[in-house]
Amino acid sequence: MKNIIEFDTLPSTNLYLKENYHQLADRTVVVANHQTAGRGRLSRRWEDSDDLLFSILLKDNLPHNLANISLLVAASLYKTLNEILDNVTIKWPNDILVKGKKLAGILLESVVIGEKVDCIIIGVGINVNTVKLSEELKQKATSIYLQINRKINKKELLEKFLKEFRRDYQFYSENKSDYLQICRDHSYVIGKEVIVTINNQPKKALVLDILENGNILLLINEKKVELNSGEITLQELY
Ligand code: BTN
Repeated sequence: MKNIIEFDTLPSTNLYLKENYHQLADRTVVVANHQTAGRGRLSRRWEDSDDLLFSILLKDNLPHNLANISLLVAASLYKTLNEILDNVTIKWPNDILVKGKKLAGILLESVVIGEKVDCIIIGVGINVNTVKLSEELKQKATSIYLQINRKINKKELLEKFLKEFRRDYQFYSENKSDYLQICRDHSYVIGKEVIVTINNQPKKALVLDILENGNILLLINEKKVELNSGEITLQELY
């Protein structure tokens, strides 16, 4: 990644790229220490403590299948974090978990003009050095520090991730990437019973597989159902 722009505070690194992508080069990376209006998937806020918060701009030679980009990023994150931590898994389509608790999240956004995708923005938040989480968050989130009891250098972590991602993205463009296999082999959800919410209707489902097109294959009421990430949310069944 050629250009890395650093800020102490921004409303959101994704928003910054959305507003400025015209004058920025392909693969520009924006990093902020703090966000005042961090965006999460499904418009949820992304809580910010001592995290690594960044976004990558993709403008040139955009891939046709955007749905798979989130899984590609998840695979690069997996490889990066697996070097530091044990028990890292990928929760389709865009979360990285450690022992079932969320460690990182991906938010993909795009700017579409007419029929054409003008740019893709990949937003990533990794809980890195957060020492204390609220009682509520403690149940469902964790940080690298809370797992290994050691603070790590966020800049080095970003560089490691960008190196993985750069290589994975290149392989992806050449149809040679192993990202789907990584998402399957280290999936948190395959083989599990979950609750899926489809059109606001919660349903019990068994996760069978992640398909080549990035969709998930479920067994619902003994029928195989293929769904994309925009159509459902997955919740674990306890
Ligand atoms: C999610 O888990 O819901 C996705 C979280 C993505 C958060 C990151 S933090 C950096 C980038 N800027 C944002 O506003 N959001 C993403």
